[in-house]
Amino acid sequence: MLAALALALTLDSGFAVIPRPVHLTPKAGTFTLTGATVITTDAASRALGFMLADYLFPATGYRLVVRSSAPPRGVPVISLGLDSTLRTVSDEGYRLDVSRSRVTIRAARPAGAFYAIQTLRQLFPPTILREAKVAGTAWTIPAVSIEDYPRFSWRGMHLDVGRHFMPKEFVKKYIDLLAFHKMNRFHWHLTEDQGWRIEIKQYPRLTLVGAWRRETIVGRPDRRDSTSWRFDGQPHGGFYTQDDIREIVAYAQSRFVTIVPEIEMPGHSQAAIAAYPELGNKGDTLSPWTRWGVDENILNPGEQTIRFYQNVLTEVMALFPGHWIHIGGDEAPKAQWKASPLAQERIRELGLKDEDELQSWFTRRMDEFLTAHGRSLIGWDEILQGGLAPNATVMSWRGIEGGIAAARAGHDVVMAPGSHTYFDYYQSTDTTREPLAIGGFLPLDTVYAFEPVPAELTADEARHVLGAQGQVWTEYIPDPKRVEYMAFPRACALAEVLWTPRDERDYADFTRRLATHLARLAVLDVNYRAPSIGATPPVSDTRPSR
Ligand code: ACM
Repeated sequence: MLAALALALTLDSGFAVIPRPVHLTPKAGTFTLTGATVITTDAASRALGFMLADYLFPATGYRLVVRSSAPPRGVPVISLGLDSTLRTVSDEGYRLDVSRSRVTIRAARPAGAFYAIQTLRQLFPPTILREAKVAGTAWTIPAVSIEDYPRFSWRGMHLDVGRHFMPKEFVKKYIDLLAFHKMNRFHWHLTEDQGWRIEIKQYPRLTLVGAWRRETIVGRPDRRDSTSWRFDGQPHGGFYTQDDIREIVAYAQSRFVTIVPEIEMPGHSQAAIAAYPELGNKGDTLSPWTRWGVDENILNPGEQTIRFYQNVLTEVMALFPGHWIHIGGDEAPKAQWKASPLAQERIRELGLKDEDELQSWFTRRMDEFLTAHGRSLIGWDEILQGGLAPNATVMSWRGIEGGIAAARAGHDVVMAPGSHTYFDYYQSTDTTREPLAIGGFLPLDTVYAFEPVPAELTADEARHVLGAQGQVWTEYIPDPKRVEYMAFPRACALAEVLWTPRDERDYADFTRRLATHLARLAVLDVNYRAPSIGATPPVSDTRPSR
């Protein structure tokens, strides 16, 4: 009995898959990949067969043959195939069986086969991920039988490219990393006070003017004390052309990642107002913002503004085929609307109670527009204030209460609370040893302990919780290497929260697997933060003011 247990533990230590598969049964023996191995596919999984061959080539140097018929007996095979009877493991689930002579991947849909391939990559030594040939390695994996499928349909990561522009090649790397962790939503925060990052053909000044700021505030000085502000004097900017976007969308699609583009309105819009002053409330000339915080410059609620943004959304919908379009909606201070004759006239003529209802009306106009085009509006939880638009999905960031309210009202919800999913927060209480961050404290074990479905919800209401996502706001994250530092390995923990059944989650086991997984991230050139595993000091509510 003890010997069997010891054997099981030894065998198990060969498996360091993140997120942890639902069912994993070790078998006797090993499979060794050689240059003679053949990949066989059916017609529906042929593209994935080539993708697998491409994944395996750089490190092994083997150009594996991909073919549709079985090779002669005795030739080692990786067999890929779709089998619609496997629906039991869901559209994203798969079976992966490894024996001495054969790797068999079966899934109901291509996404599942893709995730099986990601698992397979994690069964090999970490160096399988290297972009150059690795000499002297036996590409051996343990025999195993895996049946696997996700807990949630929305397994996401967000990236703010408004505060700091991130190059196209990095966006692709980020998408690759999401897919490697079986995440399937990339929330691309494309517009901000400090920069508009998506080319819009009808309104070229959005990027001509809005994509460039003169300089950037240095450090994190007191926001109320302008005498303490220093600026770097360095212009900053950049944007994605529509061709860039098409390229990234195609890249994401082939990795089963749906991009959720965010076009902020009516707040966080100073760069747009800088480009087109008629979108603002005061008719004055602004520049893209050079500081951080919540900006009082918001869009005016005039009919021309509505039309302008619907025209923007028309181009956005043509570029992004995904179902959800994010319209922001957060942090829209109402001082300018309170002082604006146009906004006050709108409130009167529409019979609204106040400025919150006016924002709600604005959001409804976008909801109707997107719904009429077969898409769904998603917004931050402020869109609940003043009444929720009928078809809206809510992203709950100021805690989970917005998510609870929306789910109870029958709306879909994505959980994104600062307490567990804001990866711009510090990873240590000793902030002197960390790069400057916005504040807060979110260690790895807190991310891992996140439960996306609030206990308050009934089973019916809980079905509206699509999943969750990690946020990477970039006020204090100037470049890709820092994004990686803030996102990893916290995104690994979140990936497991969103994939693995709740009862199968085990932090000690996760950290054991993480040791191997960090070697993978190193090979992938990810500048992850080495986690300090162990007791987390108690902290009070540390949500920073954004
Ligand atoms: C947010 O963090 N303002 C959504």
